[in-house]
Amino acid sequence: MTRPNRLTELDVHLTAADAEAELRADARAGLTAVPKELPPKYFYDARGSELFEKITELPEYYPTRTERALLEESVAEIAEASGADTVVELGSGSSAKTRLLLDAFRATGSLRRYVPQDVSEAALRGALEALEGEYPDLELHGVVGDFTKDLAGLPTGGRRMIAFLGGTIGNLRPAERAAFLAHVRSVLEPGEQLLLGTGLVIDEPTLLAAYDDAAGVTAEFNRNVLYVLNRELHADFVPEAFAHVAAWEAEDEWIEMRLRAEKAMRVRVEELDLTVDFAEGEEMRTEISAKFRPEGVREMLAEAGFDLGRWWSDEDRRFALSLATAV
Ligand code: SAH
Ligand code: TRP
Repeated sequence: MTRPNRLTELDVHLTAADAEAELRADARAGLTAVPKELPPKYFYDARGSELFEKITELPEYYPTRTERALLEESVAEIAEASGADTVVELGSGSSAKTRLLLDAFRATGSLRRYVPQDVSEAALRGALEALEGEYPDLELHGVVGDFTKDLAGLPTGGRRMIAFLGGTIGNLRPAERAAFLAHVRSVLEPGEQLLLGTGLVIDEPTLLAAYDDAAGVTAEFNRNVLYVLNRELHADFVPEAFAHVAAWEAEDEWIEMRLRAEKAMRVRVEELDLTVDFAEGEEMRTEISAKFRPEGVREMLAEAGFDLGRWWSDEDRRFALSLATAV
């Protein structure tokens, strides 16, 4: 990183070769499934991470702004209630909102170490470089890894709080979500904590606008996964021939993002020796963003072995922060 003698470490648990092998397997499975589907973590190459940062600034995308305001309101109480010396953050991205947490934990005098984990090495390196300058006496330990697979390798010791913000838990399907929370619980000691950000179920127009903005940034973010496949697997998708679709699935209470083929197309994925046909109007699922109800959050935490201690929500009940303790 910028200064060789600084207390910064970066563990790469997900090497480029591992990521490539996984992408091949996931792409083959997803492109031959009915309906076709692509796993969401492949949105986040360097360009995808930049597009996501743009999404967080859009007028329609309320989650980031709402969660930031909630954090501003509650960080002092969170730091006080927690007393953690290590803040671990999963899917940390640019760590933008995290600075609020770090400042509050530093003010209580307990904070020693920040451990951001993300699948995007580019986003993580950018975040660490900025944080080094801003927090010269904080130990920084970045981990490039997949939070659905690789929590056991996170640094141990001290008293930890794991933060999982941004409503990213909503990007996991119910079974994956339960497995994820159980996994998080299994790497914590009793008394250690989880700070969880969740989007709540709200009115459909507000939700849809947040995932289908007027400027088309979310559409470009969604199509970014096709650029990733073109580059990494030598595919010949024509991204502009796919339309961004965001739909509210009322029964599941999640937004579903899809890419719709605007005409019949045959796509060649050279590295997989695979030819994939799309019918005109065919939709390929790329991402879900589940929204929750307060009882649902409490239940999923309890099932995984967490006790929900404190809960904060904005006055429009759009977003919630939960501070839960491993029992
Ligand atoms: N926490 C930030 C970013 C949220 S976007 C915020 O609240 O604004 C989701 C983040 O999770 C991205 O940075 C993405 O790179 C990361 N991510 C997505 N899937 C992941 C996975 N399986 N493992 C680790 N990180 C992942
Ligand atoms: N964690 C974000 C969310 O669910 C990710 C996200 C925002 C996203 N906009 C998106 C994912 C558009 C795919 C497409 O709110």
